[in-house]
Amino acid sequence: MSLADHEHRAERLSDASDWTLAKRLWAFMRPHKLQFFAALSLYLPITAAVVAEPWIIGAAIDRYMQAEGPVGERLVGVTDLALLGIGLVLFCGCCLVLQQLLMQRFGQNTLLDLRGAGFKKVTRLEMGVFDREPVGRLMARLTNDIEALSEVFAFGAVGMVADLIMLVTMSAWLFYLDASLAGWAMLVVPPVIVTLLIFQRYAHNTYGALRRRSSAMNAYFQEALNGLSKVQLFGAEGAIGKRYDRANAEYREAAFKTIRYDVTLYAVIEAAGTLSTALILWHGAGQISGPEAVVTLGLLIAFTEYMQRFFQPLRDLGAKYALLQAAFAAADRVFGLLDTTEEAADTPDAVELTAPIASMTFDGVEFHYLPDEPVLQGIDLQIQQGERIAIVGRTGSGKTTLLALLCRFRRPQAGRVLVDGQDLSKVAIASFRRRLGVVQQDTYLFAGSLEENVTMNAADPDPARIEYAFEICSLEAVRRRLIRRAQEEGEAGDSESEILDGGTNLSAGERQLVAMARALYRDPEILLLDEATASIDQETERFLQEATEKVLVGRTSLVVAHRLSTVETADRIIVLADGRIIEEGSPAALLADPEGHFAKMVAAQRRKEAVAV
Ligand SMILES: Nc1ncnc2c1ncn2[C@@H]1O[C@H](COP(=O)(O)OP(=O)(O)OP(=O)(O)O)[C@@H](O)[C@H]1O
Ligand SMILES: [Mg+2]
Repeated sequence: MSLADHEHRAERLSDASDWTLAKRLWAFMRPHKLQFFAALSLYLPITAAVVAEPWIIGAAIDRYMQAEGPVGERLVGVTDLALLGIGLVLFCGCCLVLQQLLMQRFGQNTLLDLRGAGFKKVTRLEMGVFDREPVGRLMARLTNDIEALSEVFAFGAVGMVADLIMLVTMSAWLFYLDASLAGWAMLVVPPVIVTLLIFQRYAHNTYGALRRRSSAMNAYFQEALNGLSKVQLFGAEGAIGKRYDRANAEYREAAFKTIRYDVTLYAVIEAAGTLSTALILWHGAGQISGPEAVVTLGLLIAFTEYMQRFFQPLRDLGAKYALLQAAFAAADRVFGLLDTTEEAADTPDAVELTAPIASMTFDGVEFHYLPDEPVLQGIDLQIQQGERIAIVGRTGSGKTTLLALLCRFRRPQAGRVLVDGQDLSKVAIASFRRRLGVVQQDTYLFAGSLEENVTMNAADPDPARIEYAFEICSLEAVRRRLIRRAQEEGEAGDSESEILDGGTNLSAGERQLVAMARALYRDPEILLLDEATASIDQETERFLQEATEKVLVGRTSLVVAHRLSTVETADRIIVLADGRIIEEGSPAALLADPEGHFAKMVAAQRRKEAVAV
């Protein structure tokens, strides 16, 4: 997929409502609900303390400061109330600390599960997913999006509920204290709620766009890094830089949009707070003075203090709401990943293969990656136990695809692939893949030691088999080189023979030897070998050739061959062209017909070699 395509194919958010998303998130939160409810219940004493504090101030004013009586007595009363206030603040602080710890624990536990589910999903994705989805974007979902969710767990989810509790409690208390003052104070609340509701409608999309932009940028980064040597060789830094600049600028625009919402919301609520304080003072002033005073000074002061406290949770609710919108957009994308097609699980009646595989058959197989672009057509092929088959054909003729069908990485749209007469789609796939040793065209090595790469991190590696694989694939030299390198770099202890992620610190030929050893370590019944086309030095070529010869002995094999030597020793050769088998037979039989495709290919290759020598 080209860089430019990322922008056009940036995925849309699904139609899932916030409610549906919340329900799905709850499934991940449920196992930790104890921490959730514990954190939530701590808000009750906190709310009580927050609501009590202004009342204490009001009471101090009305009962002792403004009242008649001996000064000493009034001083004692004020001191008592002050001590009560201090006690409440301390108590409230302790509850807050505990509540934060619980909430964070709850959030981190939930995220742990979500990340785990995401990673597990990634390892099970159907290969076809990568035809549509750049790896960078999947990465973004596992990292950025889950990170965005973590913010909401840290500050948002529980806090919003708490803010609501606070608002309701405080409103009730205010009406209890003085219904008419409370009525005036609350005049501004309905317009604020309407504003919040209007914002809610737009915020979802805005935050969704922000996340999409961020993931497109990630995809750019990833692709530029993967293809860096090509970018530099072809002097494409400028062109790629420009595209990145555009994505970068689009991200900024999306970010501005969300910031505009945040800032406006903040301003609206601040204004509402001030306005309501003004209303209280205006209304209260009329009631406090004169012979028919119904409102005391203490109550009025308490009310203005309450308004400060009332609009704070409302403002927080706005901020948290923004966070929540970002989180819902992120959750939508994470669930999108969790919903991506998995490699289809075995059917309930899947057959376990127990006996050695006697035959593998392609029966009228048709396959295409894209509709209307057939890649394999009418493939009929039978492979008997112990047979050595070579597949040859031009580039793009469908050789690798044929092997992918046999591994069940792809499934035919028509026809069947059979193993011992069983349709491969009805076979317990692990019981078949266990017998396969596959060397793919492009080898991938994992970060770790040479041994780990050969055994694929087997829990209980078999030293004898490692030795055997190392010997046949001439890996001793590679191992020595890696050890020497590690020593030169002065790395400590067990860092012997470290391979870098992707195997970038090995040569192409060395990587192929490791891949071969990996296949061999399993001592497979069946070998599928997709010879790499990349040219390698003659010595490694010879190593590989010798290794191939030794590896194939006594096994059923299907080799996509580019080297004549591999083809010549095969029992049968299949010639593929445009997804069809156009020739089939033993090397001798095919060579005997000078007009045949294979004979011509060999003649052409010999001529090329003659020129080269
Ligand atoms: N993921 C994909 N999506 C769409 N088309 C694909 C995909 N993979 C391969 N193709 C197409 O399918 C055809 C067969 O590809 P395949 O990799 O099987 O060829 P091949 O014979 O192995 O070629 P080579 O000798 O170069 O390795 C090609 O035309 C290729 O462009
Ligand atoms: Mg290929």
